[in-house]
Amino acid sequence: MNVDSKNVPQHIAVIMDGNGRWAKRQGLPRIKGHEAGAESVRAIVRGCREAGVKYLTLYAFSVENWVRPKDEISGLMSLLRTFLENNENELHENQIRLRIIGRINDLPALIQRGLKRAMKATQQYTEGELILALSYGGRAELVDAMKAIAEQVKRGELKPAQITDETIAAHLYAPDVPDPDLMIRTSGEMRLSNFLLWQLSYAELYVTDVLWPDFREEHLQAAIEAYSKRHRRFGDVG
Ligand code: FPP
Repeated sequence: MNVDSKNVPQHIAVIMDGNGRWAKRQGLPRIKGHEAGAESVRAIVRGCREAGVKYLTLYAFSVENWVRPKDEISGLMSLLRTFLENNENELHENQIRLRIIGRINDLPALIQRGLKRAMKATQQYTEGELILALSYGGRAELVDAMKAIAEQVKRGELKPAQITDETIAAHLYAPDVPDPDLMIRTSGEMRLSNFLLWQLSYAELYVTDVLWPDFREEHLQAAIEAYSKRHRRFGDVG
């Protein structure tokens, strides 16, 4: 890849969109699009490792996705289970830590058990982090943070005047993970869709028309190259 390593993002977040459209175009049921999307997940985890991206956050299931047809939800859940079963070895081989952000307690008990076990088994790894957003919503995350902060205030451990950006950041689901530098969304939609609302404040956004099941390493490289040419000013004059 033609990018100086200092210009490679440390953290990439992805809205993996377009699985349904991909399936429809081929006359297949939606779940086939999600299955093909799981292959893209494997390719992109590998691509990030090779490019030197340390953190990868994937929007796999939103708090809003619970309204989808029951068979699509159960299909996605079993896909998640098989994905974990088939890919945990690769996490160990490459010393990648698996983390979940979201309301994990909303997930089926069997999935929760599998996720918690895999998170525990990989928690010591520091080569990279794969963060799956599951039953995740940016507003829900902020609501959960506000509730925890309000409890601290109620117990007299914190004064409202002491609340800063850092206080809120410290109560997010993965407080030690640095904010994403680059957010990629596939399938051409120009929306944040309630993804990492706090953390994406200064992220560079990259939208591609490629549908998620077609997204491969070359598309990831194109996104990283585009990112490497951006000038991030963080409110300064640059
Ligand atoms: C959005 O496409 C995609 C999802 C809601 C699910 C993402 C899930 C995967 C890629 C599968 C497996 C994930 C892991 C981590 C193993 P959409 O269904 O909204 O597509 P559409 O907008 O074209 O209908």
